[in-house]
Amino acid sequence: MRTINCDFLVIGNGLAGLMSALHLSTHGQVLVAAKKKPSDSNTNWAQGGIASVTDPQDTLEAHIQDTLKTGRGLCDEDVVRSIIQAGPDRVRELEKLGVEFARKNDGSHQYDLGQEAGHSCRRILHAGDITGREVIDALLKKIDAHQQIMLQSDLMAIDLVTTGWLDVLGPNRCVGAYFLDRSKNEIIAIRAPHTVLATGGAGKVYLYTSNPDTATGDGLAMAWRAGLPIKNMEFVQFHPTCLFHSEAKSFLISEAVRGEGGRLVNAAGEPFMERYDKRGELAPRDVVARAIDYEIKKRGDPCVYLDTTHKRSEFLEERFPNIFSTCLSYGYNISKEPIPVVPAAHYFCGGVETDIHGATALEGLHACGEVACTGLHGANRLASNSLLEALVGAYSTAQSVIQHNDQTPRQQIDVPPWQDGDAVPSDEAVVLEHNWNEVRTCMWDYVGIVRTNKRLERAQHRIDNLSKEIRQYYLEYEVTADVLELRNTTAVAALIIRSAQLRKESRGLHYTLDYPELGEPASLHSTLIEDRPGGFP
Ligand code: SIN
Repeated sequence: MRTINCDFLVIGNGLAGLMSALHLSTHGQVLVAAKKKPSDSNTNWAQGGIASVTDPQDTLEAHIQDTLKTGRGLCDEDVVRSIIQAGPDRVRELEKLGVEFARKNDGSHQYDLGQEAGHSCRRILHAGDITGREVIDALLKKIDAHQQIMLQSDLMAIDLVTTGWLDVLGPNRCVGAYFLDRSKNEIIAIRAPHTVLATGGAGKVYLYTSNPDTATGDGLAMAWRAGLPIKNMEFVQFHPTCLFHSEAKSFLISEAVRGEGGRLVNAAGEPFMERYDKRGELAPRDVVARAIDYEIKKRGDPCVYLDTTHKRSEFLEERFPNIFSTCLSYGYNISKEPIPVVPAAHYFCGGVETDIHGATALEGLHACGEVACTGLHGANRLASNSLLEALVGAYSTAQSVIQHNDQTPRQQIDVPPWQDGDAVPSDEAVVLEHNWNEVRTCMWDYVGIVRTNKRLERAQHRIDNLSKEIRQYYLEYEVTADVLELRNTTAVAALIIRSAQLRKESRGLHYTLDYPELGEPASLHSTLIEDRPGGFP
């Protein structure tokens, strides 16, 4: 088995991964493992932008209060303050790296700030509706030319390697990870004294998602298998408006479209949001997603519609070039007709429990970005706070790793060759396809926007059975990317169900008909799954 050594291993190539790699590179050799191509990441698909205070009329305190209010009592206020206060400096750093945020073309050169739900003023820095792509392009350009950073594509992480699992005496630490090198169909080990988990979210756990195919919760599942506490997994954010089209693969229609006046109407052409919340289209995302879900179910329609026909075509084309042209390619001119939209799984507020500096319960392992649960989002995430968290988190994680690095004596740990046992090539790939669909459909139907005890129980039985079957498959057949993703997705599904079952109230993104109200303030709690299965498989 090939073993690669580096000073810092970063698993994941979105904003959190690339940015932490850039900061770490001042202190050693960094290897960034990208599961597919360097540009395949959730960040690359981000449309809305980055929430940060830049307008002199805005205040850090207002951004902090908006975040706390949206998080419904479960944000860690110190973390919220610290991340929001750090935002403006990190935004300036992004600009130095070449990211250009949109500015007004009225000669003032001020930022053209976007409006999104839950924000008390215009606060979103954006690059049209391709903010994520602009950010990733700038970072990849920098990394391409960097001597200290090796970005390797097609590396699918299998599991973290820990000294506990290797039976090495002393405190348990992470010493790297096993990977499937998809380009060579070969399993390798990457050994590093410090690993940063930046694998993003897990939207693919659900049948409908705004996320790319890479979002299969790999980091979450690996961390859980390595025995790390996983926090607040019941809080899955469903984005209210993805394009409803059989070929569009849940193409996101940014909340910024509603921020610029887009109206939601039902199939009869009636606006309905005011019936659910007086803030209308700009009510928080969970409220809008639930209202759409009710409206669809009540009327028996497959979708609702987003109407921007009252806006000028030139404005829509300039402000939302990607949305405008993509909708056009599916036959919809958004300046002439309302477009069909449905909610879809979008973002995980929960994740691997970390402190503000990305430190986890396992020495040698840090986590940042969507995979981590720092306490910023609580029970619901304020729009466009995710890129902010990834940006600030990557910086503070790198600083913390560097500090640990300076204090940690080097100990070379041998990583044993991968044990394939009696595994043979699979001749039953149909099982994977079937189980993949079953997990995602089960999660969509039973663990979606509106939950009940019965639905969760049903989901739990199905996911338990599937987990056993997939584990068996994993042990019997040679490892492939498909089986690894299915194994991870199913583990994340189980974590969501278990967390949802532990919450006997409705709060933020977790809504259940059995406990439709907020719980008593005295019972306010985060959900922690800490059963530490330890080791793998
Ligand atoms: C959007 O553009 O609506 C997504 C922004 C976000 O998820 O924060």
